[in-house]
Amino acid sequence: MVGVAGSVRVGGAVMVTDLFVAAEYRGRGLGGRVAAAVVNEASRRCTFSSSDPAALRVYASLGMLPRWQLLTMRGPGAGLGSESLVAEWAHGRLDLVAHFASIGAEVGAHHIALRGSVVQLLRLESDAPHDVLAMLLSSVPMTDQLELSVCEHDELVAWLLARGFEVVDVDTFCATDGVDVSVGVPCVHRGLL
Ligand SMILES: CC(C)(COP(=O)(O)OP(=O)(O)OC[C@H]1O[C@@H](n2cnc3c(N)ncnc32)[C@H](O)[C@@H]1OP(=O)(O)O)[C@@H](O)C(=O)NCCC(=O)NCCS
Repeated sequence: MVGVAGSVRVGGAVMVTDLFVAAEYRGRGLGGRVAAAVVNEASRRCTFSSSDPAALRVYASLGMLPRWQLLTMRGPGAGLGSESLVAEWAHGRLDLVAHFASIGAEVGAHHIALRGSVVQLLRLESDAPHDVLAMLLSSVPMTDQLELSVCEHDELVAWLLARGFEVVDVDTFCATDGVDVSVGVPCVHRGLL
């Protein structure tokens, strides 16, 4: 195997979740072919592209044009409390939630996170995202960090910068026309919307 691509259905669109070609096989059209194979017949397509210029080129050739950037930010925990945040998930996408739970993620009413010395927030859905984030930050020791991905236009970016968070990576949301370009969920996994 020299290349791989993956996709999932999100609403009425297909999202490319992974795309990789072994370094020695790049530049021969394989990336474009495996990506085309996983979007298949779907006319509405989207992905979070890495900053690799070849990736952006492949997605553009499949009609997925750059729309906005997803900022992955990391900052220190507030270390104030440790009460359990586990609760029944209060939103949709139960398939995705079950997948995250199966890889050991903590599921709360409005957040899903993988705990470690860097706590990875995999999804946040709430009408009051600042409150959920403040609660989550409180549960992270000051010696540890919280990492999350947020749309560059979201007001949470300023809130996070004010709390010492830094942008550690940038992905580009690329989509065909007809895909709702606003995620509508403040924090998402950068591979799985
Ligand atoms: C992205 C990736 C899968 C592309 O695979 P590939 O087999 O080299 O892609 P292809 O040969 O099909 O096409 C690459 C296109 O990018 C172009 N390209 C390659 N390097 C480029 C560069 N440095 N700048 C601009 N364009 C570039 C090629 O000319 C080609 O365009 P064309 O079809 O118009 O001629 C491969 O580079 C890779 O695995 N990168 C690392 C992992 C990664 O970042 N994956 C994307 C995750 S979102």
